[in-house]
Amino acid sequence: MEGSVLERIRALDGEFDAALAGASNADALEEVRVRFLSRKGEITQIMRGLGGLPPDERREVGRRANALRERSRIELDAALAALSGPQDTTRGEDLTLPGRRPASGGLHPVRQVELQLVEVFRGLGFDVALGPDIELDHYNFRCLNFPDDHPARDMHDTFYVTEDVVMRTHTSPVQVRTMEKVQPPVRVVTPGRVYRSETIDATHAAVFHQLEGLYVDQRVTMADLKGTLAGFARALFGDRTRVRFRPDFFPFTEPSVEFSFYTEATGWLEIGGAGMVDPEVFRSVDYDPEKWSGFAFGLGVERIAMLLYGITDIRTFFENDLRVLRQTW
Ligand code: FA5
Repeated sequence: MEGSVLERIRALDGEFDAALAGASNADALEEVRVRFLSRKGEITQIMRGLGGLPPDERREVGRRANALRERSRIELDAALAALSGPQDTTRGEDLTLPGRRPASGGLHPVRQVELQLVEVFRGLGFDVALGPDIELDHYNFRCLNFPDDHPARDMHDTFYVTEDVVMRTHTSPVQVRTMEKVQPPVRVVTPGRVYRSETIDATHAAVFHQLEGLYVDQRVTMADLKGTLAGFARALFGDRTRVRFRPDFFPFTEPSVEFSFYTEATGWLEIGGAGMVDPEVFRSVDYDPEKWSGFAFGLGVERIAMLLYGITDIRTFFENDLRVLRQTW
């Protein structure tokens, strides 16, 4: 049985070639198609009979019959196309119909703002440094002067992976990783995603983005910090943007501030925390605090995006509503 089916396929191969060679117009080509490929055509019959063959033979016969069917289709199509000649290349398509625009993706608005922020800071002379999302407690807390069991750790609602490994709660650990690698002067910004087990509301998400800045050199002062953040606010929102600094506490800066920007659309919105790098942090990376001083800041990227676009609920960014995502931001 198997032998005869395979022989039949081989014979059909030649018969198809002969039939095709003899067909010189569209009607003749249609006859060839009907003979081999229609529902009752010869190749179709063989495909139908596959189920009755033993499994190991079925595979080989199926493979060959399939190849013949594909080849016949392609060659018949080509022969038809060749017949229709150059004056009819549209093959029945209406060239006056409007084209279909290919689907194209775009950057998420938060990512676009992140890139915009990085550009502003590049213009101020900052390089970019990145660090891991899954971070050692050592970098996320300990080197930043959050001692074990210290109440300051309660400032961050942390997702723990193991006792020593956390989902980073801020981008500040990248400061430490950077200082471990390079000697001052240092001027970097470090954008990235951060994680906190927070109650979600209009201005708080559990997964959000921060951008950290670190500037270490000789005789860096609080005035440099204020000048940099004010320059940044104005580059982004225009010359009339107001910037407010209020005392705050972070274990890794001393003194520490929180800073807010004011725009008409959103009023005052807390953008980030900042301060002068604490000498303890310098000691943890073997920088001499007598010689070097520096400022650091960390800001919320979504908060900036909210100000830029006049968005009053942070959840707008995460609900993936296509009406939001499709806008050209
Ligand atoms: C910090 O994370 C510090 N690492 C910032 C810092 C860096 C201080 C360097 C000093 C020196 P804080 O927890 O306040 O600080 O967060 C910083 C900013 O992230 C906030 O001002 C806010 O803009 C944003 N942010 C904080 N929590 C959320 C949240 N749940 N959702 C959205 N944005 C948030």
